[in-house]
Amino acid sequence: MRHSTPIIAHKQTLFVLFAEIGYDPYKLWAIRAYVMVVLGIETSCDDTGVALYCHERGLLADALYSQLSLHAKYGGVVPELASRDHIRRLIPLINEITDQAGLTLSDIDAIAYTKGPGLVGALLVGASFANGLGLALSVPVIGIHHLEAHLLAPMLEETKPSFPFLALLVSGGHTQLIQVSSMGQYTLLGDTVDDAVGEAFDKTAKLLGLSYPGGPALAKCALKGNKARFTFPCPMTNRPGLDFSFSGLKTYALNTIQGLALTAQDKADVACAFEEAVVKTLTLKCKRALMQTKLSRLVVAGGVSANIRLRENLKRMAKACSVEVYFPRQAFCTDNGAMVALAGAIRMAKNEATCEGLEVRARWPLDALADNHNH
Ligand code: KG4
Ligand code: ZN
Repeated sequence: MRHSTPIIAHKQTLFVLFAEIGYDPYKLWAIRAYVMVVLGIETSCDDTGVALYCHERGLLADALYSQLSLHAKYGGVVPELASRDHIRRLIPLINEITDQAGLTLSDIDAIAYTKGPGLVGALLVGASFANGLGLALSVPVIGIHHLEAHLLAPMLEETKPSFPFLALLVSGGHTQLIQVSSMGQYTLLGDTVDDAVGEAFDKTAKLLGLSYPGGPALAKCALKGNKARFTFPCPMTNRPGLDFSFSGLKTYALNTIQGLALTAQDKADVACAFEEAVVKTLTLKCKRALMQTKLSRLVVAGGVSANIRLRENLKRMAKACSVEVYFPRQAFCTDNGAMVALAGAIRMAKNEATCEGLEVRARWPLDALADNHNH
C-alpha cells in the first residue's frame, strides 16, 4: 500500500506556510529546488537506470536493469536491441522506485534524462519518455550530460567533494582528466589518443577468453595472478603531458599471449600485469595533474573507478600527496539513474529547468557544456 512519507508532509507544510504569508511557494525557486523530487532516467547505453532524488532528503529510491545477458552472446552492445529493451524496462522500473519511496507519479516535480553522449537510439528512448511524462505531469524536463552525471556521482555519498576538484573520468568510452572549477565549468586537461581505458580492459579480457563485460572479469582473474611474472609498459608516462594511450597495452597483451599455452595461471598473470600497468599509468597521470593544478581534491568516476586495485592505489597516492580522494559507491561507478537525478536536481537548483524537446547528442564534449546550458 502507498503511504505518505515525511518528505511529502514536510513539503506540504512548507508550501501551506508560504501560501499563508502571501507567497506562491512555486515561485520561490530556491525553496522549490530544495524540496523538489527529481526523477532521473539513464538510457545512454546498455543499462536502464532510474532514481528519485531530493536535495532535502538525498536519494529516495533507485533501480537498475542491466542488459548484460541480452548482449553477452554478441560480445558487445547491439544498439538496436539496447533501444528496444529500454522501452520495455522503463515503466516497470519507475513503478518500482515510486513504490520504494512511497510516492506516486504526481509527487514528481521535475524529470532529468541523459541527453548524451551515448547510443543515439538508446538516448532517444530516454528523451522521448522523459518529455512525454513531463508533458503529462506538467513538470519541467532537463537533458543531462552523461559524463557530468558520472563526475557528480560521488556527491551521492555522505562525504561529498566540494568544488574545485580534479576529476579522473574512466569509463568504457572515456579516459579524461578534467579540472572542475564549479558546476558546469570544465577544462579538459588530458584525454586518450586511442582506446578508452574501459575499452582496453574489455578488449584485453576478450583476448584472454574472459566473459563480457571484460573489466570486472579481468580484475577478478588478476586476483590470482603472479605480479612478478610479466611487466607491461606504462604508456606515455616517460614524456610530459596528461594524455593517455591504451591500445598499445592491448597489443602488448596479445604478443605476450601468443607465446603461451594460456593456462588459467597464464591468464591470471597476463591480467595482473595489464591491470598493474593501467593502474600505475592512471595514478601517475593523476599525481602529475594534481601537481600542475595545485588542486587538493580528486574525484574518480565512471565504470573503471569500480576497480579495487585502482581505488587502493589512488588512495595511497592521495594520502602521500595530502589530497582528498572521492569515489562513488561501487553501484554508482557504472551507469545508473541516481547520478542523473542528482545532476538534474543541481541544475534545477540553478534555475535551469528547460523543455528542450527531443534533442539528443551522440557526441558531446564535456567542456562544451557551459555554452550548451546557457543558450
Ligand atoms: O561508465 P560505464 O558503466 O559505461 C560507460 O559510460 O562507458 O563503464 C563501463 C566500463 C566497461 O568498459 C567495463 O569493463 C568497465 O567500465 N569496468 C571495469 C570494472 N567495472 C566496470 N573495469 C575495470 N575494473 C572493474 N572492476
Ligand atoms: Zn557511463
